[in-house]
Formats: sequence, structure tokens, C-alpha cells
Amino acid sequence: MLYSNLSTNEQGHLTIGGLDALELVKEYGSPLMVLDENRVRENCRIYVNAVKEYLPKGSMPLYAGKAFCFKGLYSIIDSEGMGADVVSPGEVYTVSAAGFPMQNVYFHGNNKTDEDIALAIEKKLGCFVADNRDELISIDRIARENGIKQRVLLRLTPGIDPHTHAKISTGKVDSKFGTAIETGQAMELVEFALGLENINLEGFHCHIGSQIFESDPFCDAADIMLKFVADVKAKFGYEVKVLNLGGGYGVRYVESHPQIDIAANIKKLGEHIAADCEKFGIVAPAILLEPGRSIVADTCTTLYKIGNVKTITGYKSYVSIDGGMTDNPRYALYGSEYTVINATKADKTADFVCTVAGRCCESGDLIGEDIAIASPERGDILAVLTTGAYNYSMASNYNRICRPAVVIVKDGETRVGIRRETFEDLIKCDM
Ligand code: LLP
Repeated sequence: MLYSNLSTNEQGHLTIGGLDALELVKEYGSPLMVLDENRVRENCRIYVNAVKEYLPKGSMPLYAGKAFCFKGLYSIIDSEGMGADVVSPGEVYTVSAAGFPMQNVYFHGNNKTDEDIALAIEKKLGCFVADNRDELISIDRIARENGIKQRVLLRLTPGIDPHTHAKISTGKVDSKFGTAIETGQAMELVEFALGLENINLEGFHCHIGSQIFESDPFCDAADIMLKFVADVKAKFGYEVKVLNLGGGYGVRYVESHPQIDIAANIKKLGEHIAADCEKFGIVAPAILLEPGRSIVADTCTTLYKIGNVKTITGYKSYVSIDGGMTDNPRYALYGSEYTVINATKADKTADFVCTVAGRCCESGDLIGEDIAIASPERGDILAVLTTGAYNYSMASNYNRICRPAVVIVKDGETRVGIRRETFEDLIKCDM
């Protein structure tokens, strides 16, 4: 099995955290997302321990909630000693409702409205990651109206192009995110920010992209950002306290993907940062990292019920499931690969090659093509692995399909993390 928390029991069924996948569906219904809490905790600890050991004093990993955002997850993240990165007023609201310590929350987004900014200040959110000059002006004004000095990082684009899907590459100069170092605008923005009375400039942020397997792009980004930190010090005598290097470490969705050693990567990054700081003659800033995918992706499995199995003579076979792009749009959007198992026959040879199709009214609603599973039959349970990141958080109600339930398993016990959406939920905003 791809992950150590997955196995097969005597009935030949897939087990998740020791629990029979078919029994879970019997109890909670289908489709069902099963999140293994211990695995979330293990992933958090890899970051927390490595950051403590290899990065400068005061460094901290923040969980990027865009990967998967619901109240119950934040208590786990907080108890493991991580902060949080949020990207919308809805995420601000959720993290606050979860009782998360708001001083450890960082607010992203390339277009925060005045209402968003006011909400975050009302919720006593710790630090804004300001995208540009317009936004800084608004934060400064709203902070003044509230009689506070607001902690801020500036989001900068270091001009790095990592090897990942174009839609999830974000650190290039030509980007909707941040302010560019290369064009000189970042330096102008620093000067402007330092002159604002209600802004407490703590440092800078960059995020180069997501699902990145190499360590070099992160080190390259650190080089450029620390050189900028040194230039800022030379120009304004201002010492940057915090450098946030974003998220992005890749995750193994299928056997052919590499398994990243996150701790080793952070060690390498730490050595790089130490060498840079010495070279540039600057005090090492506290480093923030913002992993999302690598905290939650491999903690979750989605279970579907197989419906129609159809072979088109001379062409191929379609296996239809009771979910699809509405709970996992990543194949439709990015052509992302997944490992798929017939959970009812997890001990049988996977020799039936098929296209796994969702139930939406469009041909692109697929979970994958050329997927080999053990002989599927109507009523079997199909497991799609590694669905913890950017699945539920990108889910929709297209075709008025209800979002699945999320059940959390821990040490053989289960509890509902997100209850299943109902038809009543679907019409609750309709007038
Ligand atoms: N920080 C910032 C500012 C980000 O924009 C992101 C992701 C992260 C942290 C977390 O990156 P991670 O560790 O998860 O790679 N929907 C796409 C992924 C979009 C990523 C957006 N930003 C997907 O399903 O692959």
C-alpha cells in the first residue's frame, strides 16, 4: 500500500487506520472522506521538529488552510504547535470560530477588500501579508480607525519559476500575486510601508508554487529574498525580523512520484539560509513556512460507491462513482494522478483497466483514466487515496450534488469532522 496506515483485513477489504472501509461507509454513507488524525499529527511534527532544529530562532511552520479548512482540523494543528495561513474572509472566520490563537494567523490574498481587512482586525488576526500598495493604504487606514498598529509582511515575487503545473506556479514576476523585486517596485513598497504610522513592517513573504519535488527552487528563493533583506538594510537601516518562504513541498500521489524527505529539505534550506546571512552580513530572520498539501494530502482517503460499470466494445471501460469532480476537481483541472483501489477487493489483483467517471453532466468529470483496479461491480466501494489537500476545499455543488461527509479516525475511534450536506442545505440560500 502507498501509505502505512492503509492495509487489508481478513475479508480482503481495505482498512484505514485499522478500520474497515466498507464498515465506515455502512455507518456514515457514501461518498465519504476518511481523515486519519494520527497521520496529520505525524506530518505536523515533521515540520515542527525540523523547523526547531534547523531554522533560526523564532521560526514556525504555518498550516495553509486553503488545502483543507474546517474547524475540527484547526484544533489538531494548534495542538501540534503550528500557526495558520488563511486566504479569505471565510478562512479568517473559520479559524477564529475554531478558537485558534489569532496572533499566529497570517492573512494572504491578492485582493483583500476593506471589509475583509476590517473583519480580520476585528478578529484580532496576527499578521497581514500585504500584496501591494493599495492594500497597504487600506490596512493602515483601518488599523488607525481601530487604534492599533498592524503587523504586516509584504508579499514579494522573487522571479522563480519552479517545475510544476503553470496554474499553481506563483513566484514569477508576471503574476497576480505580490510585488516584484526585479522591477524595483518591491524596494519602493518597503520605503512606503516604513513610512506608514499604523503599519508595523515585520518582513517579507514569497511563495513560488505548489507540488514541487526539488529543493533547489526553495533555496534559490531564499537567496533572492535574503539578498533583498540585505539591500533593504543597506538602504534604510531596517532589519527584517521575519521571512516567510511559503509552502509547496510535493506529495506522492502515485508510486512513481518521489517521496520527499521534508526534514532533510528543511535542513538543507537552513544551511543555505545560514550561509546567505553570513555572506550578506545580516542577522538571520525568523523563517516561516506554509505547508498545506504536505500536511493533509496523504491523511485522507475518499470512499465512493461504484454504480454502473460499462465496457464500450473496442474502446474502453467506464466505472461510474457516486462523486467525482464535485468533491475532487483536480483531474479535471490539472490532470492530476491518483492511486485508486477497489476497497471491496483490496486483496485481489488490480487487472481491470478503466476510466473512473463522476456523475456530473459533462465528459470531463473524471477521477482518472487508464486506472487498474480489481474487477469492479455495482455496489463495490472504490477508494481514492491522497485526497486530503485541495479536494474538499475545492468542492462544489455543481449539478446540485451534495458535498460528502468527512469522518476523522483516530486510534480505532471515529467522529464526524464535517457532516454530510443535505438537500435542505442545497436550497437554504434560495429565495
Ligand atoms: N502559501 C501560499 C501563499 C500559497 O499560495 C499556497 C498554495 C500555500 C502556502 C500552500 O502550498 P502547498 O504546501 O499546499 O503546496 N489547487 C492546487 C494548489 C494551489 C496552491 C495554491 N497556493 C492543487 O490542487 O494542486
